[in-house]
Amino acid sequence: MAAKALPLPDAELERLASVVGTPFHIYDGPAIEQNACTVNSSFSWNDGFINYFAVKALPNVNIVRLLARHGFGADCSSLPELIIARDAGIPGERIMFTSNDTPDEEFRAAYELGAILNLDDITHIEAVERACGRLPETLSFRFNPGPERTGNVIIGNPVEAKYGVTRSQLFDCYRTAREKGVRHFMLHTMVASNELDGSYIVETARMLFSLVKELHDSVGVRIERIDLGGGVGIPYRPEQEAISFGWLGDEIHRLYDEMIVAEGLAPLAISFEMGRAITGPYGWLISRVRHVTHKYKDYVGLDATMADLMRPALYGAYHHMTVIGKEDLPKDHEYDVTGSLCENNDKFAIDRPLPLMERGDLVAIHDAGAHGHSMGFNYNAKLRHAEYLIADGGKILCIRRAETIEDYLSTQLSTPWEVST
Ligand SMILES: Cc1ncc(COP(=O)(O)O)c(C=O)c1O
Repeated sequence: MAAKALPLPDAELERLASVVGTPFHIYDGPAIEQNACTVNSSFSWNDGFINYFAVKALPNVNIVRLLARHGFGADCSSLPELIIARDAGIPGERIMFTSNDTPDEEFRAAYELGAILNLDDITHIEAVERACGRLPETLSFRFNPGPERTGNVIIGNPVEAKYGVTRSQLFDCYRTAREKGVRHFMLHTMVASNELDGSYIVETARMLFSLVKELHDSVGVRIERIDLGGGVGIPYRPEQEAISFGWLGDEIHRLYDEMIVAEGLAPLAISFEMGRAITGPYGWLISRVRHVTHKYKDYVGLDATMADLMRPALYGAYHHMTVIGKEDLPKDHEYDVTGSLCENNDKFAIDRPLPLMERGDLVAIHDAGAHGHSMGFNYNAKLRHAEYLIADGGKILCIRRAETIEDYLSTQLSTPWEVST
């Protein structure tokens, strides 16, 4: 069973928490960079390999900048995410714009930035023409395999998913785009979320490799890049195992030789949009115990809430917890670990074995480096907390200050504007 690492030794974490106040997110920069290097080296056999980091996982320019240093691109789903990618120094051609129900102005902004538009529907060809005046030279389509694949609990069954174009639409998409002057083509899919079975990802590559051939043979379109999306899982539970990037790279390489090189379809660049697998294990939510209460069950009340990390409440997701300074004590008590929202599902854990808990204990919630702070919200007028980054040499940088009451109230108009129509 893999021990869960902490960002800092206990005494340093305690000191930091007492200086900056809790709750906060903290990320391990050097570990994120090391992970990015491992991803790159696992796919170095593929010319043009890119991981477009899914900015939604951790939308902080300082993190995206770290990844850009290692040649990562960005996968963006909105205008603010495009701005983060741009400000992190990522050039347009390394930005994928994989958006949903996209407004015209966001298509236009992505187009002007030179980002790759990854269209979610056949009708979006027309939407892009309307928004941008023309189609770009390079276009990607998101494929939804429907009944050909089964999804998993987080992403859901592809047949029920709102994302992507169906198999029959896909061929029309490429035909139409080519007729309208598009010259470079990419193919995208995303069918898994938090998948720990590496063979599922390999099978997704197989599906796209075979589509590359079908599109070549039946439409005469040469796909230059495939994008396998995100969805590579991380071991949230200590007994789970991560997918080895080295293994994944080798397996996809083998298939590439068999299905792409041997069929005369090379070169084909490979990309992912991994977010969680890049930063997830290297982020922690640090929170302090406010109250320990005993009702029909025993409760540990934290100063963080599901507004700071909503995965447990949203998906029943497991996040491991370490009680700082109590690592070696027996976990001989069982608690529901709650936040302070007026919401009964504001729970980080249910029936969790922990050591005897006391007011003031510091708790590190693990694997909060992706889809953590970014999924936060303001219910109960809770303020968004700060983010810190451990940088090279161990310096700790504040990369997002905590929201203030003034920030929160700043969009509220105590003297209402009259709307003239
Ligand atoms: C289109 C797209 N790409 C990439 C990702 C990143 O997924 P993950 O962080 O699980 O790798 C997501 C997540 O929702 C997504 O919707």
